[in-house]
Amino acid sequence: KRVAILISGGGSNMVALVESMTGDHPARAVLVASNDPGAGGLAKARAMGIATAAVDHRPFGRDRAAFEAALLEPILAARPDILCLAGFMRVLTPGLVQRFAGRMLNIHPSLLPKYPGLHTHQRALDAGDAEAGCTVHEVTADLDAGPILGQARVPVLPGDSADTLAARVLAAEHRLYPAVLRRFAEGDRNPVLLD
Ligand code: GRF
Repeated sequence: KRVAILISGGGSNMVALVESMTGDHPARAVLVASNDPGAGGLAKARAMGIATAAVDHRPFGRDRAAFEAALLEPILAARPDILCLAGFMRVLTPGLVQRFAGRMLNIHPSLLPKYPGLHTHQRALDAGDAEAGCTVHEVTADLDAGPILGQARVPVLPGDSADTLAARVLAAEHRLYPAVLRRFAEGDRNPVLLD
């Protein structure tokens, strides 16, 4: 299976995914693409020998479809079987989601359905939750709401800030996403549950 990974920033999840696709793994990374030409993850991808592409979303303003048409060009050229959103911070139009229906994954830093959207760690702290975590789900037209493919739970500890909790969740993401991708690439849709 050919995997394209979309990033917006440092790409630590992308690195974890690429590093997991070795040996008898049924998938290989064929492209890392970003909406930010300055994304730190692009240099990491290149250092790992993965082709990269970047389309700055800013010149497109509010024309989301035009930005996606530009981003689709290098993505389609890579002929991916699976698309992994990994710290990708742009909302996709239903058109793009439809094109990759059933084969586009995203990782979200909360235990969905709790806390879709942003600032998930602060919201968990404000709610006094005893645990937090991350979710890998299939991407559908509804933001952060597709079928859940995996979850990892972490404790919320006394004195946690959003930053300390985010770091604990991020480490769990790096375990969860590769486990889900391997199972997904093998055609297994049973959810991966880690804690
Ligand atoms: C992190 O906040 C992570 O929780 C979320 O995307 C952000 C950046 O991740 N999934 P990455 O280091 O770019 O993968």
